[in-house]
Amino acid sequence: MRTTRLFQIVVFALLTLVSAHAQPRPEKVYLFSYSTGENRDKNGLHFAWSADQQTWHEIGPLYSFVKSDYGDWGSQKRMLNPRVVSLPDGSWDVIFEVNEKEAVMGIAHTPNFVNWIPQEYLPSAKVLSMYNLPERVSVELPISGKQTGDIHCVEWNVLKTMLDAVQMAATRSAENAERLADDAGRFRGLKSQTLTLSIDADKPKQISNMLMGIFFEDINYAADGGLYAELVQNRDFEYHPRDKRHRDSKWNSSYAWTLTGEGAQWFVDQMDPLHANNPNYARIRVARKGARFANDGFDGIAVKAGEKYDVSFFARAINGGGTVTARIVDENGAEIGKAGLSARSRSWKKSAAVIVASRTCDNARLELELGFAGEVALDMISLFPQNTFKGRKNGLRPDLAQALADLKPRFVRFPGGCVAHGDGLENMYRWKNTIGPLEQRVPNWNIWGYHQSLGLGYYEYFQMCEDLDAEPVPIIPAAVPCQNSVVGGYGQQGGLPLEEMDEYIQDIVDLVEWANGDPKKSKWAKIRADAGHPEPFNLKYIGIGNEDLITKVFEERFEMIYKALKERCPEITVIGTVGPFYQGADYEEGWRFAQELGLELVDEHYYNPPGWFINNQDFYDKYPRGGTKVYLGEYASHLPNRSNCLESALTEAAYLCHVERNADVVEMTSYAPLLAKKGHTQWNPDLIYFTNTTVEPTTGYYVQALFGQNAGDVYLPSAFDLDPRDASIARRLASSVVLDSSSGDLIVKLVNMLPVDNTVEVALPSEYSRGNVTKSLLTGELSDTAAQPVVSKANVVSGACTVTLPAYSFMVIRVSK
Ligand code: AHR
Repeated sequence: MRTTRLFQIVVFALLTLVSAHAQPRPEKVYLFSYSTGENRDKNGLHFAWSADQQTWHEIGPLYSFVKSDYGDWGSQKRMLNPRVVSLPDGSWDVIFEVNEKEAVMGIAHTPNFVNWIPQEYLPSAKVLSMYNLPERVSVELPISGKQTGDIHCVEWNVLKTMLDAVQMAATRSAENAERLADDAGRFRGLKSQTLTLSIDADKPKQISNMLMGIFFEDINYAADGGLYAELVQNRDFEYHPRDKRHRDSKWNSSYAWTLTGEGAQWFVDQMDPLHANNPNYARIRVARKGARFANDGFDGIAVKAGEKYDVSFFARAINGGGTVTARIVDENGAEIGKAGLSARSRSWKKSAAVIVASRTCDNARLELELGFAGEVALDMISLFPQNTFKGRKNGLRPDLAQALADLKPRFVRFPGGCVAHGDGLENMYRWKNTIGPLEQRVPNWNIWGYHQSLGLGYYEYFQMCEDLDAEPVPIIPAAVPCQNSVVGGYGQQGGLPLEEMDEYIQDIVDLVEWANGDPKKSKWAKIRADAGHPEPFNLKYIGIGNEDLITKVFEERFEMIYKALKERCPEITVIGTVGPFYQGADYEEGWRFAQELGLELVDEHYYNPPGWFINNQDFYDKYPRGGTKVYLGEYASHLPNRSNCLESALTEAAYLCHVERNADVVEMTSYAPLLAKKGHTQWNPDLIYFTNTTVEPTTGYYVQALFGQNAGDVYLPSAFDLDPRDASIARRLASSVVLDSSSGDLIVKLVNMLPVDNTVEVALPSEYSRGNVTKSLLTGELSDTAAQPVVSKANVVSGACTVTLPAYSFMVIRVSK
């Protein structure tokens, strides 16, 4: 039934386009605008046209010319009863209801029904008072049946622009649907070739030496339960039903904790807390000694034989008090290690000890055995491995951090992503809440539906950058929350009240002080020094905003922040944002706005199908030089099944070759998201999957690693001697040649997305004809999710290095002088 309907729509679409282009062109035509109500009103605005108001042709048909941007992704983005209004200057407004409950209307503005500017949302009464709306009419349409909407008489050219846009969208969608998995059929009979790759050493081009970075966001349990090495879950008793939007009855302040023991009781209390920012604590009453308060960790606690674990808590004895034995125990309760702690003080006091694990266990738990009868308050109960990345206290899981280090990232973006701008104003990430003693940090809910302890806060982030030899690139909200926020009511991107902007801007200036200032002169730099880092962190970049809608609310606040930073912190490069897609209203307005302000860099985001990456290997060739540059801050090739496998990875590799070629205008890139804990993913694909004991890099990870480990700072043009008529073959063979000035090495990257092997003779510049050659080859089945590069040596014969690129492969050839 659905296939028949689809077929009907496709045939009709073709007929509409053909007939519209073939017909004698009337000077004027009628446009009928309507929405069908299908898909819970999420399909947006459709059009039909007619020369005589008798015979109607649906455009597309059911092509969505504009959709609502209002509200969250799940239940919102609805457009009800759209009305098209013509304006005196020849442009148009579309006004629409956003849902049945709120007295809010959206306004979408367009010069031609194809290009749109970002939408505005205002109280319905105000919107209705702005327009004089004629009666709606009903029209019988060939496919959609009877629909109600507006009719406008327009010039033929208006219709033509719309028809061309629909045709272009159809071409794009066919390109996007292209899959390497279908190529064996598409290139049936294709023979292997021997190709020469010529390198033009006379046309060197300086490129960015910051190209490959990483995007860290606390999504998929990337921080708590992931990179942040704390083993106790809900150590501060601050979990809250709101973390999961009140959808999980078990998720509350007592989550992950249990108390056993005769007559033993516990509850979460707030009276006389450890710190106002951390109001909850566990209040435990025991009639007899021997009660056990236990934590399950994040999917259990993994410990290793012989390793040391710092165990600690803050305790306040309310009645009685005494010793507490902290034990790591296995699934059966058998002891793996123990240490003594104290809970005697009448005021909050920290007690700490070290447990040595006698054996390895992947599913242990922490038990605190109370050696007394009475009542005690406990908070910030922690079990932290001493074995962290670079041995940092309160540091990172070493195996995961090493996987990040192996990417050789030049920068680390943090804290997101959507976590940066948050779910409503209250949830915007505030850096000041994430530094200082752990018990004084302000935990928050996580927009991805869990909890942020903020134990991995700004200090730990800057320390991580230092340990990875990478530049910090913090992303600060542009004083507007995520455009998909559920929290906060109408106006979704309401923005901080203007009277709070001075304080907000001061916070950003304070961040620069904290990171770069002199502790003798600056309060914030002293806080950094007191935390253990007297030397400046040397912060150079700050991103303002994360793929926000480029609304007036956004622009007003962004400009205030930008101008203040330029004036007060001129050493900082400010990165702007141009919306969540590679095209469309926010992309266009974002770029216009960035150029008007003269921004140095803007952050682009796009998650597209592999076909898009194959067919857009000239995307940045077309970008103007000499102005605002690009930080491609989030991207990934998304297959329909959202796996990270060789097929997606090869399209990313080919695209990155084109990015390297354009690294005079693309300054930085970061694949997103980075980390995902198995069983806790909100987003796929990711770069590295992990459990408590495993690190599972994806095929895409190795593409990133090969680019990061083989980055250069000078680009040399290269070309295959292909028949120029073979455009589809050319799109499946990519190359990039760079020089790394620090080592003097020449690096050749080759991608073969064809279903057959190809031999490539790389004609090396003369000074490399006696060098040592190392090849790294990533290949396999297109669906492989665990392909890894294999490294080998190669020879140079008569000035050329000849290699065979297997079908579906990515090779990096590194040649020393
Ligand atoms: O990378 C996952 C999410 O994708 C980011 O949080 C957000 O910025 C984007 O929509």
